[in-house]
Amino acid sequence: MNDKLWDNVDHYLESSLLPPDEVLGEASRASTEAGLPAIAVSPLQGELLHILVRLMGAKRVLEVGTLGGYSAICMARALPPGGSLVTLEVDARHAAVARANLERAGLAGVVDVRVGPALESLPRVAEEFGEGSFDLSFIDADKTNNPAYFAWALRLTRAGGAIVVDNVVRDGMVADDDSADASVLGVRRLMEAMGGEPGVRSTAIQTVGVKGYDGFAIALVGAGPAPR
Ligand code: SAH
Ligand code: DHB
Ligand code: MG
Repeated sequence: MNDKLWDNVDHYLESSLLPPDEVLGEASRASTEAGLPAIAVSPLQGELLHILVRLMGAKRVLEVGTLGGYSAICMARALPPGGSLVTLEVDARHAAVARANLERAGLAGVVDVRVGPALESLPRVAEEFGEGSFDLSFIDADKTNNPAYFAWALRLTRAGGAIVVDNVVRDGMVADDDSADASVLGVRRLMEAMGGEPGVRSTAIQTVGVKGYDGFAIALVGAGPAPR
């Protein structure tokens, strides 16, 4: 549709706002060379995650869906000394690329990459860290499990913390009530869960850019009954 214009504007904004970033550039190149899909957050989206971590003063971040570690680098670099990020990845090859990228970024000691299906890792993370022990959770893995990831994130994120979910619009398919697509259904069930969860305020924002037409959702945890 307008993707060429969206790309141009994203490149314009990126060149205007973001300083050249050797570490992220190298992480991108290494991910492409290793054959990983080009589905990491964009540089501008990565900067939004970075700013969010800083705004919140987050010390502990949980990520579901590591890929090559691009978004993990963006967020981990925003952590204060002693901060940490746990990121869950099912694909051992992706995790290996991520670990190498994190090592080059000087973040190997800050980011803990755990390999396995996230639904198997999350109970262990809960046991190890305890409920409410993360300031921010970023959900960006398989979309079919979004409702389950959100339920875990609700348990693991502290009151006053936030849950961000990527890819909630998918070319507008999210609004198709007749969709039989498993990913779309995963996002629609996530929207139901977010909208129906007492004590959580949620919103979702449509986006265009180098990643096409998509969007992200954000929930503020423990916000009390939302006076809508
Ligand atoms: N957050 C990354 C992009 C993640 S892409 C970034 O912006 O840089 C989605 C990732 O989720 C892929 O690497 C995929 O292998 C992983 N994934 C898919 N299903 C998963 C599952 N069940 N458990 C954990 N990770 C999963
Ligand atoms: C896909 C996954 C993502 O997390 C994303 O940001 C874009 C695309 C995908 O699986 O197609
Ligand atoms: Mg994504």
